[in-house]
Amino acid sequence: MSHTIVSQCTARINRSEQAVPGSNPTFMEKAAKGSADVVFLDLEDAVAPDEKEQARKNVIEALHELDWSGKTVSVRINGLDTQYMYRDVVDVMEQVGDKLDLIMIPKVGTASDVYMVDTLVSQIEIAKGYTKRIGFEMIIETALGMQNVHRIAGASVRNESLHFGVADYAASTQARTINIGGPNPDYSVLTHADENGKSEVHWGDMWHYAVARIVVAARANGLRAIDGPFGDIKNAAGFSAQARLSAVLGCEGKWAIHPSQVGIANDIFSPSEEEIMRAKRVLSAMEEAKRAGQGAVALDGRLIDLASIRQAEVLVRKAETVSENG
Ligand code: GLV
Ligand code: MG
Repeated sequence: MSHTIVSQCTARINRSEQAVPGSNPTFMEKAAKGSADVVFLDLEDAVAPDEKEQARKNVIEALHELDWSGKTVSVRINGLDTQYMYRDVVDVMEQVGDKLDLIMIPKVGTASDVYMVDTLVSQIEIAKGYTKRIGFEMIIETALGMQNVHRIAGASVRNESLHFGVADYAASTQARTINIGGPNPDYSVLTHADENGKSEVHWGDMWHYAVARIVVAARANGLRAIDGPFGDIKNAAGFSAQARLSAVLGCEGKWAIHPSQVGIANDIFSPSEEEIMRAKRVLSAMEEAKRAGQGAVALDGRLIDLASIRQAEVLVRKAETVSENG
């Protein structure tokens, strides 16, 4: 181990992250009553340019008027390369900064992008006398952002999570996609022919590298890694498959761009009864091994050691957080 201790960001349950356009007050009202862990009110890409000002007003009103208790609420501001971003931060922070938990920064390219927003937010917090610190969610969705992901992750004490913005990432890297966040059949291998001359096509996960890299940058800086959107909203099986992949890699949650995806994400990112039971058995088997002076033992025919304790502890802690807040 290193002498460097990774301090952890503010703990929040973040299994589902529901995207709601700021241009649609009815959707915001529904989301406040829904079961997403985090709701982000969008001022960016779900809002057309001539609706930006009205959407900002709607979001401020929704934060004032609606009951968001039991939820984490975020606002996705516009990108730093637009003419909207400074007013998004100033108006939202000045008028409802005490009602908000997080600001989501899209298309982050460098650590100084985060610093810029941090400076603005810090000044407003002090000027308004807010006592609750706003956290940051950052969307990694450009080749530049991916190149600098580790620096971005460590750029501010406000940072809480890194999100994979797969749609913009595909645009930025010129990846070939069919459905936002889903697989492409061309990303596949052909197996060797069997004795009958038949080969099989095995699809691969074209997002593996991006998600895995985001997970590493997030965890090395004590942040949550959150998988982004899945565009085929009628395809619950496809959404589940993608969510399971990212959960296996270490993501804590996934975006829901349709309310029907919220419950699926909540289920998939909650530890199952079976996992919790196994983790508890690992902890008691290791407790016994310790008493017997052993560092590693077999459980159900598989070797477990001190690293297994750490994995089991993480899982049990996660299950406790889910049962306290879920
Ligand atoms: C999200 O913002 C995305 O581009 O996928
Ligand atoms: Mg995007």
